[in-house]
Amino acid sequence: MDRIVIQGGARLEGRIDISGAKNSALKLMAAALLTDEPVILTRMPRLADSRFLGHLLAKLGVEVSERDDAQLSLHAATITDTFAPYDLVRKMRASFNVLGPLLAREGHARVSLPGGCAIGARPVDLHLKALKALGAEIEIAEGYVSAKAPKGGLVGAEIDLPFASVGATEHAMLAAALARGETVIENAAREPEIGDLADCLTAMGATIEGAGSSTIRIQGQPRLTGVTHKVVADRIETATYALAVAAAGGDAVLDGAVLAHNKALWSSMHEAGVTVEAVEGGVRIARNGSRLNSVDIETQPFPGFPTDAQAQFMALMSMATGSSVIRETIFENRFMHAPELARLGADITVHGNEAVVRGVERLRGAPVMATDLRASVSLVIAGLAAEGETVVNRVYHLDRGFERLEAKLSGCGAKIERLPGSA
Ligand code: EPZ
Repeated sequence: MDRIVIQGGARLEGRIDISGAKNSALKLMAAALLTDEPVILTRMPRLADSRFLGHLLAKLGVEVSERDDAQLSLHAATITDTFAPYDLVRKMRASFNVLGPLLAREGHARVSLPGGCAIGARPVDLHLKALKALGAEIEIAEGYVSAKAPKGGLVGAEIDLPFASVGATEHAMLAAALARGETVIENAAREPEIGDLADCLTAMGATIEGAGSSTIRIQGQPRLTGVTHKVVADRIETATYALAVAAAGGDAVLDGAVLAHNKALWSSMHEAGVTVEAVEGGVRIARNGSRLNSVDIETQPFPGFPTDAQAQFMALMSMATGSSVIRETIFENRFMHAPELARLGADITVHGNEAVVRGVERLRGAPVMATDLRASVSLVIAGLAAEGETVVNRVYHLDRGFERLEAKLSGCGAKIERLPGSA
């Protein structure tokens, strides 16, 4: 297995190109199942997760072709299979999102339950609640969801989500776009990825109002068309590089980043003493050598502080003056990076869903590893700021969600490289 080796201490200066958002791209790929015409996604991130979903879509009959210029074409002229096996869904939970589109277009599907995940139990009850509201008959047996639409297809309905789940909102939108009549999703998630999916489905012919607010109205259509759609910029990749510049020190522009998609993070970074400003084409992040202030954060659904940037923010706070309290409210087991950051010299105590981070003057490099994507990249951030060498193992986690991470960082002066082989 590859490793990432970092010699810490280099300032980050220059420009970093922000890719399309992984968490949007995966749902846009599932949307390709809704039409027999080609769906072309541009600014498509090249990631292990998107390749993986591509394999599942190909198994279902979708013609998948990737071009060098970050363009992915998906053509579901005919769906030849409506079965998504355990092996393919277990490895990448977003695969579960094929259930609604298959059901809406073909009237039936059998998709494996995704199972748990390193960061939490992550049930799919709200996804199933939404599909049932649209008229689906659902049976769960032997780890699989078997779903059937009524004769004549899914029917628009009111879906009231008890929690503003991103995945359940997206799943409901995908299915409702091909349902008869109006669907209203109450307490919908408001993440920018929801707006991106709404834009894509609208361009495919659905009528959608309210994406980005808590109430989304969808007028389903009997048929959707193909589309060429540019994936929204990745706000978590943006957050990650912003925190890397803040941690290592430097001055960099994140090209293509959208200021409005990370307001909660910017305000915490500003409080910590980092300069964040909109510039032509992106966002500039700058930090001089002085030590940062500690800031408390609590993760919340958008527009609150994103759980997907919590680990990276903890890496920054581990070098601030004073103590910072970090509360995780979205996932029940998302502090696995804390003991690894401690290997670099961070002083962190975790009690339930709260971590107290007492800033230290400097971190020192060490070998580390992590069990999920954002945790791994928090170790890269800490390694960039630490004295000496940090080796991050289990790089496959990073490859799931960060495109050309070493190239993007070394382009700004970081001393980072990938070594093949296992540690
Ligand atoms: C999406 O996950 C993202 N994944 C996550 O990113 C992200 O952390 C999360 O949204 C929150 O922003 C993708 O988009 C592929 P949720 P999702 O449904 O949709 C509970 C990353 O690192 N819940 O909003 O699964 C759930 O257990 C990943 O890129 C139910 O109880 O998030 C969790 O505690 C990690 N029942 C909370 O809601 C359900 O049916 C939020 O989950 C669904 C969710």
